[in-house]
Order: sequence, then structure tokens, then C-alpha cells
Amino acid sequence: MACHGNNATAPSPGLAPGAGEIDCAAFARGFEMDGRIGEIVAGFDGPFFQAGLAGYSDAAMRIVARRHGCPYCVTEALLDRTLLAGGRGFAKADLGELHDNVPGGAEDHPLAGQIMGSDPDEMAAAVRKMVERNERADYPTAGFAAIDVNLACPVKKIKRKARGGHWLREPEGAIEILRAVREAAPEHMAATVKMRRSFDDTPEMLRSFERVFDAAYELGYAWVTVHARTVEQKYIGPSRWDVLRDLVARRGDRVIFGSGDIWNVHDVFRMLAYTGVSGVSIARGCIGNPWIFRQARQMLAGEAPTRPTIIEQRRALEEHFEISVAINGEKRASFMMRKFGIRFSTHHPRSEDVRRAFIGVKSLDEWRGVLNAFYGEAGEEMSVAGIRERRGGESVNMSA
Ligand SMILES: Cc1cc2nc3c(=O)[nH]c(=O)nc-3n(C[C@H](O)[C@H](O)[C@H](O)COP(=O)(O)O)c2cc1C
Repeated sequence: MACHGNNATAPSPGLAPGAGEIDCAAFARGFEMDGRIGEIVAGFDGPFFQAGLAGYSDAAMRIVARRHGCPYCVTEALLDRTLLAGGRGFAKADLGELHDNVPGGAEDHPLAGQIMGSDPDEMAAAVRKMVERNERADYPTAGFAAIDVNLACPVKKIKRKARGGHWLREPEGAIEILRAVREAAPEHMAATVKMRRSFDDTPEMLRSFERVFDAAYELGYAWVTVHARTVEQKYIGPSRWDVLRDLVARRGDRVIFGSGDIWNVHDVFRMLAYTGVSGVSIARGCIGNPWIFRQARQMLAGEAPTRPTIIEQRRALEEHFEISVAINGEKRASFMMRKFGIRFSTHHPRSEDVRRAFIGVKSLDEWRGVLNAFYGEAGEEMSVAGIRERRGGESVNMSA
């Protein structure tokens, strides 16, 4: 699993000075989307998207998000070598899981496939694989609409080779990677970059960031998503929205997305208003919370954002469950749905009881039992046995 390391503790919201006073509802009502985004990626029609989230953002999470109004998703970072090896041999030791990066069909569109690696040639070969996959899918209505290069992941390099955010210490190498990927991708396919705001706060690293950031646009990248924490910060401490604001002020002619400290729908509009970015990447704020996308659309329409009712929570959990079993198979779905149940529980009036109940489940049938115990009997009855029968599988243990 990838980019979060073991210390991905949620920081307290670190808003920039003055951002707290912004009237998010009024800003959302009057908001006008940057028209270039929809021209670059057809169908990307809201100023926010679901970030790559290793270990979570598989096709099931993406499709549930889209059904709630998410206009665009990015897969988790997949190592170029994993892609080239067809997922074999690297699954445990390395980053990204191949099955989480498989596009989920027409409903999982538009989608960016994110890649990360150490070698420009391998990165280019990985891009060609993604393009081949598109040719087998119903592209352009399914498959990858864009390729996102990860220059952000803080997980340490192996065998002294840079990758992810560590490239920010070697700007010329990072630019080689960017050039190789852009040249390997067909012109009609957008290429984008995910970057940290710097490797650390030294003047040398701040200059490196600017060098790579500017080079990306010069090479033809459509936009950069800037996670406004340094690589050294990992996920701890505030995302520096003031740095984002300054970047936008200096490079306002470009499409820039912002990332970091988006915990609820108000943060989406607060970041847009405060920093002036064209769009916002929603990450930890949407795990177990697909309603953030519905709420964002409500606010854009001048309406008050509504919380999910228990029936809506049940429906979302059931949908997530069904898609997860269908795409992941029962064993992996067991593991995934336990995690998601725990995250969804925060919306329930008895959240602590529900959370504990999801923690304790050991099979998909027990998971279903928690749903029936806490979320009423409403909703379409979905039998695990039925899904299992269709797939010809057997019950599996959650601890697998
Ligand atoms: C569990 C987890 C996995 C992540 N995986 C990825 C990834 O694969 N690719 C990526 O670009 N960012 C990844 N990120 C970073 C997020 O996309 C985002 O930039 C970061 O969490 C900051 O936003 P937030 O503070 O609103 O969560 C991950 C973050 C977390 C917490």
C-alpha cells in the first residue's frame, strides 16, 4: 500500500489566516468554474475531484463517489514497474495495487490513472500499457482520460532511487520523467502532475519546486495539483494554503488544483475562495463520506448542504458493498468493506456503537448483520449468499 506511511494522523484543520471568515455559501453561489477544465477533460464539470487514496480509492469507492456527484477521480499511485509486470511480483513490497487501478467501466469515467516511478523509460512504457488498455476498453467513454504523474508520495526511496515526492530533490530528474511521460502519451490524452509544495522549507528546495512546476506546464501538462504540505511533513501539520495563494497570485494564468486539509464541504469553497485555485482535490474528507460531493453540488446551486439520512447511508453502504464484491471478489471486499463501514459510521447518530460493531465483523454476512442492526431494514435486500452463488466463491474470513 502506498503513499501515507504509518503516521497518517489527521492534523487539526490548519486554515490560513482570514480563511475562517469566508462566507462559503455566498462564494459557492456566485462561483464560476474555470472553463478550461472541461475542455481538457470532457465531463469534468465541478471544481473538485476525488484524490488518489492508496488502499481506498478503488473502482468501488470511485463509482459510489460519482453517483453522489463527483465529476472526476484519480487512481492511487501505481508504480510503473508494477504496471509493467502486470501486477505480479511487486504487490507486497511496493506501492499501489494493480486491481485498484483498473478503470471501472463507463460509470467510472472520466478517470486519471496515476503512475509513479524512478526511470523515465519505464514510466513511458507504463504509459503505453495504459494506452493499450484504453484501446481494449470503450475509450473515450471508458478507460483513462488522463495520466497523472506522482511527484508527491513521501514514502522513502528504495535502492537510492528517487520516486514520488523525492524527485523534488532532483528537479532535473523529475523533469526527465515528466518529459518521457508526456511524449509517450497520445496528444489527445491529458497529462497532469501531483506535487508537494516543496521537499522541505530550505530555499534550495523551494526553488526546485518552482523549477519542476514551471517545467510541467512548459512540457504541455494541463495542470498541477499542489498538496500544500512538504514531503518531509508527510500528512502531519497544516497544509499551507497561504503558499498556494501566493503561487496562484504569481502563476494565475495556469490551471492549478489545491490539496490538503479538505475535511468537509465548506473547506472545498474556503480553499477555492482563499487561494484562487481552479479546483480542489478531496482526499481524507471523502473517505466514508461520498455526500461531500452532493453537498458541494448543492452549494454551487445556492442550496444548503444536506446531511445523509440513515436510509441514504444504508443505500450508499449497500451500493459500495455490491460493487466491491463484484469487482474485488469476496475476499478483498471483506477487507475493504470492514474499513469503509468504520469510516461511514461517523455519520450515524450512534456512531461509536456502529464503529465498534464494524470493527468486530469477521465475514461479509456479519457485516450485513451490522447494517440490519443499525441502519433499519429498508433498502434493497442484498444477500451475500446470492452474490457468492453468482460468483461461485466461498465465505471468507475478514482477517484474511
Ligand atoms: C491513505 C492515503 C493514501 C493516499 N494515497 C495517495 C495516492 O496514491 N496518490 C496521491 O496522489 N495522493 C495520495 N494521498 C494524498 C492525498 O491525495 C492528499 O493529497 C492528502 O491526503 C492531503 O489532503 P487532505 O489533507 O485533505 O487529506 C494519500 C493520502 C492518504 C491519507
